[in-house]
Amino acid sequence: MVTCVVTGGAGFIGSHFVKHLLARYPDYQVVNFDKLTYAGNLDNVREVADDPRYRFVQGDVADETAVRDVLEGADYVVHFAAETHVDRSIGDAASFIRTDVFGTYVLLEAFREMGGRRFLCISTDEVYGEAGDEPSGEDSPLMPKSPYAASKAGAERLAYSYWITYGVPLVVTRCTNNYGPYQYPEKMIPLFVTNALEGEPLPVYGDGANTRDWINVSDHCNALDALLHTEGIEGEVFNIGSGEEKSVNEIAQAICAALDKPSDLIRYVTDRPGHVLRHAVSTEKLRALLGWEPAVAFDKGLVATIRWYVDNPWWWKRIKSGEYLEYYRHQYEERGSA
Ligand code: NAD
Ligand code: TYD
Repeated sequence: MVTCVVTGGAGFIGSHFVKHLLARYPDYQVVNFDKLTYAGNLDNVREVADDPRYRFVQGDVADETAVRDVLEGADYVVHFAAETHVDRSIGDAASFIRTDVFGTYVLLEAFREMGGRRFLCISTDEVYGEAGDEPSGEDSPLMPKSPYAASKAGAERLAYSYWITYGVPLVVTRCTNNYGPYQYPEKMIPLFVTNALEGEPLPVYGDGANTRDWINVSDHCNALDALLHTEGIEGEVFNIGSGEEKSVNEIAQAICAALDKPSDLIRYVTDRPGHVLRHAVSTEKLRALLGWEPAVAFDKGLVATIRWYVDNPWWWKRIKSGEYLEYYRHQYEERGSA
Protein backbone atom coordinates (compact mmCIF):
# COMPACT_ATOMS: atom_id res chain seq x y z
CA MET A 1 0.00 0.00 0.00
CA VAL A 2 1.12 3.56 -0.76
CA THR A 3 -0.05 6.19 1.73
CA CYS A 4 -0.91 9.71 0.63
CA VAL A 5 -1.91 12.37 3.15
CA VAL A 6 -4.04 15.08 1.59
CA THR A 7 -4.37 18.20 3.73
CA GLY A 8 -7.52 20.24 3.15
CA GLY A 9 -9.20 17.24 1.53
CA ALA A 10 -12.65 18.39 2.68
CA GLY A 11 -12.34 21.63 0.68
CA PHE A 12 -13.06 22.23 -2.99
CA ILE A 13 -9.92 21.11 -4.85
CA GLY A 14 -8.66 18.78 -2.10
CA SER A 15 -11.92 16.77 -2.17
CA HIS A 16 -11.67 16.34 -5.94
CA PHE A 17 -8.06 15.20 -5.54
CA VAL A 18 -8.94 12.67 -2.79
CA LYS A 19 -11.59 11.14 -5.07
CA HIS A 20 -9.21 11.24 -8.04
CA LEU A 21 -6.52 9.28 -6.17
CA LEU A 22 -8.95 6.65 -4.88
CA ALA A 23 -10.46 6.17 -8.33
CA ARG A 24 -7.13 5.96 -10.11
CA TYR A 25 -4.88 4.03 -7.70
CA PRO A 26 -6.36 0.86 -6.18
CA ASP A 27 -3.28 0.38 -3.97
CA TYR A 28 -3.42 3.85 -2.38
CA GLN A 29 -4.46 4.58 1.18
CA VAL A 30 -5.67 8.19 1.27
CA VAL A 31 -5.72 10.10 4.55
CA ASN A 32 -7.72 13.32 4.47
CA PHE A 33 -6.42 15.69 7.16
CA ASP A 34 -8.69 18.71 7.53
CA LYS A 35 -9.67 21.11 10.30
CA LEU A 36 -13.19 21.54 8.87
CA THR A 37 -13.21 25.31 8.91
CA TYR A 38 -16.22 27.11 7.42
CA ALA A 39 -14.90 25.98 3.98
CA GLY A 40 -14.38 22.32 4.90
CA ASN A 41 -17.35 20.06 4.24
CA LEU A 42 -17.56 16.29 4.53
CA ASP A 43 -20.42 16.32 2.02
CA ASN A 44 -17.69 16.91 -0.57
CA VAL A 45 -16.23 13.46 0.08
CA ARG A 46 -19.33 11.52 1.03
CA GLU A 47 -19.00 9.19 -2.01
CA VAL A 48 -15.76 7.78 -0.57
CA ALA A 49 -16.57 7.95 3.15
CA ASP A 50 -17.04 4.16 3.38
CA ASP A 51 -14.11 3.20 1.17
CA PRO A 52 -11.74 1.09 3.33
CA ARG A 53 -8.76 2.81 1.63
CA TYR A 54 -9.95 6.22 2.85
CA ARG A 55 -9.56 7.73 6.31
CA PHE A 56 -10.63 11.14 7.57
CA VAL A 57 -8.70 12.77 10.42
CA GLN A 58 -9.95 16.07 11.76
CA GLY A 59 -7.02 18.29 12.70
CA ASP A 60 -5.21 21.57 12.28
CA VAL A 61 -2.06 21.87 10.16
CA ALA A 62 -0.71 24.29 12.77
CA ASP A 63 -0.95 21.60 15.49
CA GLU A 64 2.51 19.98 15.67
CA THR A 65 1.42 16.85 17.54
CA ALA A 66 -1.55 16.13 15.29
CA VAL A 67 0.57 16.70 12.17
CA ARG A 68 3.34 14.40 13.35
CA ASP A 69 0.79 11.68 14.11
CA VAL A 70 -0.90 11.89 10.73
CA LEU A 71 2.32 12.07 8.70
CA GLU A 72 3.85 8.98 10.26
CA GLY A 73 4.50 6.43 7.50
CA ALA A 74 3.21 8.69 4.70
CA ASP A 75 4.78 8.24 1.27
CA TYR A 76 3.27 11.40 -0.16
CA VAL A 77 1.86 14.63 1.24
CA VAL A 78 -0.28 16.83 -0.97
CA HIS A 79 -0.80 20.09 0.88
CA PHE A 80 -3.98 21.97 -0.03
CA ALA A 81 -5.10 23.12 3.43
CA ALA A 82 -5.28 26.89 3.54
CA GLU A 83 -7.41 29.92 4.14
CA THR A 84 -8.18 30.76 0.53
CA HIS A 85 -10.49 33.72 0.01
CA VAL A 86 -8.93 37.05 -0.99
CA ASP A 87 -11.80 39.14 0.41
CA ARG A 88 -11.63 37.44 3.81
CA SER A 89 -7.87 38.02 3.91
CA ILE A 90 -8.46 41.73 3.35
CA GLY A 91 -10.85 41.76 6.34
CA ASP A 92 -8.55 39.79 8.66
CA ALA A 93 -5.16 38.37 7.68
CA ALA A 94 -4.33 36.58 10.95
CA SER A 95 -5.81 33.17 10.13
CA PHE A 96 -4.08 33.27 6.73
CA ILE A 97 -0.67 33.75 8.30
CA ARG A 98 -1.37 31.12 10.93
CA THR A 99 -2.69 28.42 8.59
CA ASP A 100 -1.02 29.17 5.27
CA VAL A 101 2.46 30.15 6.52
CA PHE A 102 2.84 28.63 10.00
CA GLY A 103 0.80 25.53 9.10
CA THR A 104 3.05 24.89 6.10
CA TYR A 105 6.10 25.24 8.35
CA VAL A 106 4.68 22.65 10.77
CA LEU A 107 4.03 20.20 7.92
CA LEU A 108 7.47 20.73 6.40
CA GLU A 109 9.18 20.14 9.75
CA ALA A 110 7.23 16.92 10.34
CA PHE A 111 7.85 15.71 6.78
CA ARG A 112 11.57 16.47 7.14
CA GLU A 113 11.68 14.44 10.32
CA MET A 114 9.58 11.50 9.09
CA GLY A 115 10.88 11.26 5.53
CA GLY A 116 8.67 10.43 2.57
CA ARG A 117 8.88 10.39 -1.20
CA ARG A 118 7.38 13.73 -2.18
CA PHE A 119 5.71 16.79 -0.66
CA LEU A 120 3.51 18.63 -3.14
CA CYS A 121 3.06 22.22 -2.06
CA ILE A 122 -0.07 23.70 -3.65
CA SER A 123 0.54 27.38 -4.25
CA THR A 124 -1.30 29.77 -6.56
CA ASP A 125 -0.74 32.11 -9.51
CA GLU A 126 -1.84 34.90 -7.14
CA VAL A 127 1.76 35.00 -5.82
CA TYR A 128 2.81 36.83 -9.01
CA GLY A 129 0.46 39.76 -8.53
CA GLU A 130 -0.39 41.49 -11.85
CA ALA A 131 0.50 39.51 -14.97
CA GLY A 132 0.83 42.71 -17.03
CA ASP A 133 1.19 42.22 -20.80
CA GLU A 134 2.88 38.81 -20.67
CA PRO A 135 1.64 35.71 -18.84
CA SER A 136 3.74 35.08 -15.71
CA GLY A 137 6.49 32.49 -16.09
CA GLU A 138 7.85 30.45 -13.17
CA ASP A 139 10.77 32.91 -12.92
CA SER A 140 8.64 36.06 -12.88
CA PRO A 141 8.95 38.19 -9.73
CA LEU A 142 6.57 37.45 -6.89
CA MET A 143 4.59 40.60 -6.13
CA PRO A 144 1.53 39.36 -4.21
CA LYS A 145 -1.17 41.99 -3.81
CA SER A 146 -3.43 40.57 -1.08
CA PRO A 147 -2.69 39.13 2.36
CA TYR A 148 -3.89 35.77 0.98
CA ALA A 149 -1.46 35.88 -1.93
CA ALA A 150 1.37 37.06 0.31
CA SER A 151 0.73 34.22 2.78
CA LYS A 152 0.84 31.69 -0.05
CA ALA A 153 4.09 33.23 -1.35
CA GLY A 154 5.58 32.94 2.14
CA ALA A 155 4.43 29.33 2.43
CA GLU A 156 5.78 28.15 -0.91
CA ARG A 157 9.12 29.97 -0.57
CA LEU A 158 9.49 28.39 2.86
CA ALA A 159 8.90 25.03 1.18
CA TYR A 160 11.55 25.84 -1.42
CA SER A 161 14.01 26.66 1.35
CA TYR A 162 13.40 23.20 2.86
CA TRP A 163 14.51 21.64 -0.44
CA ILE A 164 17.56 23.88 -0.75
CA THR A 165 18.57 23.69 2.93
CA TYR A 166 17.56 20.20 3.99
CA GLY A 167 16.98 18.36 0.72
CA VAL A 168 13.30 17.76 1.51
CA PRO A 169 11.89 16.29 -1.74
CA LEU A 170 9.18 18.69 -2.80
CA VAL A 171 7.54 20.37 -5.76
CA VAL A 172 5.62 23.67 -5.83
CA THR A 173 2.61 24.26 -8.10
CA ARG A 174 1.00 27.57 -9.01
CA CYS A 175 -2.42 27.05 -10.53
CA THR A 176 -4.87 29.60 -11.87
CA ASN A 177 -8.55 30.00 -10.87
CA ASN A 178 -10.34 26.66 -10.57
CA TYR A 179 -14.05 26.08 -11.11
CA GLY A 180 -16.30 23.03 -10.84
CA PRO A 181 -18.71 21.25 -8.49
CA TYR A 182 -18.38 21.61 -4.69
CA GLN A 183 -16.74 25.07 -4.76
CA TYR A 184 -17.68 27.11 -1.72
CA PRO A 185 -20.12 29.83 -2.84
CA GLU A 186 -17.97 32.76 -1.70
CA LYS A 187 -15.88 32.35 -4.88
CA MET A 188 -17.10 34.13 -7.98
CA ILE A 189 -18.55 31.35 -10.16
CA PRO A 190 -20.56 29.42 -7.51
CA LEU A 191 -21.61 32.72 -5.89
CA PHE A 192 -22.97 34.09 -9.16
CA VAL A 193 -24.64 30.81 -10.18
CA THR A 194 -26.39 30.26 -6.84
CA ASN A 195 -27.36 33.94 -6.54
CA ALA A 196 -28.84 33.85 -10.04
CA LEU A 197 -30.77 30.68 -9.15
CA GLU A 198 -32.23 32.50 -6.14
CA GLY A 199 -33.01 35.64 -8.17
CA GLU A 200 -30.41 37.59 -6.17
CA PRO A 201 -28.01 40.17 -7.66
CA LEU A 202 -24.63 39.15 -9.11
CA PRO A 203 -22.20 41.62 -7.47
CA VAL A 204 -19.44 42.55 -9.95
CA TYR A 205 -16.51 44.39 -8.39
CA GLY A 206 -15.44 47.62 -10.10
CA ASP A 207 -16.09 47.59 -13.85
CA GLY A 208 -15.87 43.79 -14.23
CA ALA A 209 -13.02 43.99 -16.78
CA ASN A 210 -10.67 41.96 -14.55
CA THR A 211 -9.57 38.72 -16.16
CA ARG A 212 -8.52 35.36 -14.80
CA ASP A 213 -7.34 32.13 -16.45
CA TRP A 214 -10.05 29.57 -15.59
CA ILE A 215 -9.21 25.88 -15.28
CA ASN A 216 -11.58 23.01 -14.64
CA VAL A 217 -10.77 21.37 -11.31
CA SER A 218 -10.44 17.95 -13.01
CA ASP A 219 -7.66 19.28 -15.26
CA HIS A 220 -5.89 20.69 -12.21
CA CYS A 221 -6.11 17.28 -10.47
CA ASN A 222 -4.67 15.48 -13.51
CA ALA A 223 -1.69 17.86 -13.60
CA LEU A 224 -1.09 17.43 -9.85
CA ASP A 225 -1.25 13.64 -10.15
CA ALA A 226 1.39 13.72 -12.90
CA LEU A 227 3.64 16.08 -10.96
CA LEU A 228 3.32 14.02 -7.77
CA HIS A 229 4.58 10.96 -9.61
CA THR A 230 7.31 12.44 -11.85
CA GLU A 231 10.87 11.76 -10.71
CA GLY A 232 13.70 14.28 -10.80
CA ILE A 233 11.82 17.58 -10.40
CA GLU A 234 12.54 18.31 -6.73
CA GLY A 235 12.67 21.99 -5.81
CA GLU A 236 10.98 23.03 -9.04
CA VAL A 237 7.95 25.25 -9.57
CA PHE A 238 5.24 24.51 -12.14
CA ASN A 239 2.51 26.82 -13.35
CA ILE A 240 -0.80 25.12 -14.13
CA GLY A 241 -3.50 26.86 -16.17
CA SER A 242 -5.84 26.46 -19.11
CA GLY A 243 -4.82 29.51 -21.16
CA GLU A 244 -8.52 30.52 -21.28
CA GLU A 245 -8.75 34.06 -19.98
CA LYS A 246 -12.19 35.46 -19.28
CA SER A 247 -13.38 38.68 -17.69
CA VAL A 248 -15.82 38.81 -14.78
CA ASN A 249 -18.30 40.53 -17.11
CA GLU A 250 -18.13 37.72 -19.69
CA ILE A 251 -18.72 35.06 -17.06
CA ALA A 252 -21.56 36.94 -15.36
CA GLN A 253 -23.28 37.33 -18.76
CA ALA A 254 -22.70 33.66 -19.61
CA ILE A 255 -24.22 32.54 -16.29
CA CYS A 256 -27.35 34.69 -16.78
CA ALA A 257 -27.73 33.39 -20.33
CA ALA A 258 -27.27 29.73 -19.35
CA LEU A 259 -29.88 30.05 -16.60
CA ASP A 260 -32.23 32.14 -18.71
CA LYS A 261 -32.05 34.99 -16.19
CA PRO A 262 -32.16 38.69 -17.07
CA SER A 263 -28.72 40.33 -17.19
CA ASP A 264 -30.03 43.20 -15.08
CA LEU A 265 -29.35 40.89 -12.12
CA ILE A 266 -25.72 42.01 -12.65
CA ARG A 267 -24.86 44.86 -10.25
CA TYR A 268 -21.65 46.87 -10.30
CA VAL A 269 -20.45 47.32 -6.73
CA THR A 270 -17.49 48.87 -4.92
CA ASP A 271 -14.23 47.34 -6.09
CA ARG A 272 -12.01 45.03 -4.05
CA PRO A 273 -8.99 46.92 -2.62
CA GLY A 274 -5.81 45.87 -4.46
CA HIS A 275 -7.93 44.04 -7.07
CA VAL A 276 -5.63 42.27 -9.54
CA LEU A 277 -6.56 43.26 -13.08
CA ARG A 278 -5.07 40.22 -14.78
CA HIS A 279 -3.81 36.80 -13.67
CA ALA A 280 -2.36 34.69 -16.48
CA VAL A 281 0.45 32.14 -16.54
CA SER A 282 2.66 30.47 -19.09
CA THR A 283 2.35 26.66 -18.85
CA GLU A 284 5.05 25.78 -21.37
CA LYS A 285 7.22 24.13 -18.73
CA LEU A 286 4.47 21.73 -17.65
CA ARG A 287 3.43 20.96 -21.23
CA ALA A 288 7.01 20.33 -22.34
CA LEU A 289 7.81 18.02 -19.41
CA LEU A 290 4.58 16.03 -19.21
CA GLY A 291 2.78 16.60 -22.47
CA TRP A 292 -0.10 17.72 -20.23
CA GLU A 293 -3.02 19.52 -21.87
CA PRO A 294 -6.28 20.66 -20.29
CA ALA A 295 -9.12 18.43 -21.46
CA VAL A 296 -12.11 20.63 -20.60
CA ALA A 297 -12.90 23.74 -22.68
CA PHE A 298 -14.17 26.61 -20.52
CA ASP A 299 -17.53 27.11 -22.26
CA LYS A 300 -18.43 23.41 -21.91
CA GLY A 301 -17.01 23.17 -18.39
CA LEU A 302 -18.96 26.23 -17.26
CA VAL A 303 -22.25 24.85 -18.58
CA ALA A 304 -21.60 21.47 -16.87
CA THR A 305 -20.71 23.27 -13.63
CA ILE A 306 -23.85 25.41 -13.75
CA ARG A 307 -25.87 22.25 -14.35
CA TRP A 308 -24.29 20.65 -11.25
CA TYR A 309 -25.38 23.58 -9.03
CA VAL A 310 -28.88 23.46 -10.57
CA ASP A 311 -29.09 19.73 -9.82
CA ASN A 312 -27.57 19.86 -6.32
CA PRO A 313 -29.30 22.54 -4.24
CA TRP A 314 -29.03 20.13 -1.25
CA TRP A 315 -25.30 20.89 -1.26
CA TRP A 316 -25.26 24.69 -1.51
CA LYS A 317 -28.52 25.59 0.25
CA ARG A 318 -27.18 24.13 3.50
CA ILE A 319 -24.05 26.28 3.16
CA LYS A 320 -25.93 29.46 2.30
CA SER A 321 -27.44 29.84 5.76
CA GLY A 322 -26.30 30.86 9.25
CA GLU A 323 -22.66 32.04 9.32
CA TYR A 324 -22.57 32.37 5.53
CA LEU A 325 -25.43 34.88 5.50
CA GLU A 326 -23.68 36.99 8.12
CA TYR A 327 -20.48 36.91 6.06
CA TYR A 328 -22.43 37.83 2.93
CA ARG A 329 -24.20 40.78 4.55
CA HIS A 330 -20.95 42.05 6.02
CA GLN A 331 -19.02 41.69 2.73
CA TYR A 332 -21.64 43.02 0.37
CA GLU A 333 -23.62 45.61 2.37
CA GLU A 334 -20.52 47.81 2.46
CA ARG A 335 -20.12 47.37 -1.29
CA GLY A 336 -23.67 48.51 -1.90
CA SER A 337 -25.19 45.11 -2.72
CA ALA A 338 -26.70 42.79 -0.12
P1 NAD B 1 -11.09 25.69 0.12
O1 NAD B 1 -11.19 26.98 0.87
O2 NAD B 1 -12.27 25.18 -0.64
O3 NAD B 1 -10.65 24.51 1.12
C1 NAD B 1 -9.65 24.68 2.07
C2 NAD B 1 -9.69 23.46 2.98
O4 NAD B 1 -8.62 23.59 3.94
C3 NAD B 1 -10.99 23.34 3.79
O5 NAD B 1 -11.45 22.01 3.77
C4 NAD B 1 -10.58 23.75 5.20
O6 NAD B 1 -11.35 23.12 6.22
C5 NAD B 1 -9.13 23.29 5.23
N1 NAD B 1 -8.34 24.04 6.22
C6 NAD B 1 -8.29 25.39 6.40
N2 NAD B 1 -7.49 25.69 7.44
C7 NAD B 1 -7.00 24.51 7.92
C8 NAD B 1 -6.10 24.17 8.97
N3 NAD B 1 -5.58 25.12 9.75
N4 NAD B 1 -5.79 22.87 9.15
C9 NAD B 1 -6.34 21.90 8.36
N5 NAD B 1 -7.22 22.17 7.38
C10 NAD B 1 -7.54 23.46 7.15
O7 NAD B 1 -9.82 25.86 -0.83
P2 NAD B 1 -9.58 25.40 -2.34
O8 NAD B 1 -10.15 26.40 -3.25
O9 NAD B 1 -9.94 23.97 -2.48
O10 NAD B 1 -7.98 25.57 -2.42
C11 NAD B 1 -7.13 24.50 -2.03
C12 NAD B 1 -5.69 24.90 -2.22
O11 NAD B 1 -5.46 25.26 -3.58
C13 NAD B 1 -5.27 26.11 -1.39
O12 NAD B 1 -3.96 25.91 -0.94
C14 NAD B 1 -5.33 27.26 -2.39
O13 NAD B 1 -4.42 28.29 -2.03
C15 NAD B 1 -4.90 26.56 -3.66
N6 NAD B 1 -5.39 27.14 -4.91
C16 NAD B 1 -6.72 27.36 -5.09
C17 NAD B 1 -7.17 27.88 -6.30
C18 NAD B 1 -8.64 28.09 -6.56
O14 NAD B 1 -9.00 28.60 -7.61
N7 NAD B 1 -9.54 27.70 -5.67
C19 NAD B 1 -6.25 28.19 -7.31
C20 NAD B 1 -4.89 27.94 -7.09
C21 NAD B 1 -4.48 27.41 -5.88
P1 TYD C 1 -12.56 35.02 -6.74
O1 TYD C 1 -13.47 33.91 -7.11
O2 TYD C 1 -12.68 35.62 -5.38
O3 TYD C 1 -11.08 34.52 -7.02
P2 TYD C 1 -9.69 35.35 -6.99
O4 TYD C 1 -9.89 36.65 -6.34
O5 TYD C 1 -8.83 34.42 -6.18
O6 TYD C 1 -9.28 35.45 -8.42
O7 TYD C 1 -12.74 36.21 -7.78
C1 TYD C 1 -12.58 36.00 -9.17
C2 TYD C 1 -12.82 37.34 -9.86
O8 TYD C 1 -14.17 37.74 -9.66
C3 TYD C 1 -11.97 38.48 -9.31
O9 TYD C 1 -11.63 39.38 -10.37
C4 TYD C 1 -12.90 39.19 -8.34
C5 TYD C 1 -14.25 39.01 -9.00
N1 TYD C 1 -15.40 38.95 -8.07
C6 TYD C 1 -16.48 39.82 -8.27
O10 TYD C 1 -16.50 40.67 -9.20
N2 TYD C 1 -17.54 39.73 -7.41
C7 TYD C 1 -17.56 38.84 -6.37
O11 TYD C 1 -18.56 38.81 -5.60
C8 TYD C 1 -16.44 37.96 -6.19
C9 TYD C 1 -16.42 36.96 -5.05
C10 TYD C 1 -15.39 38.04 -7.07
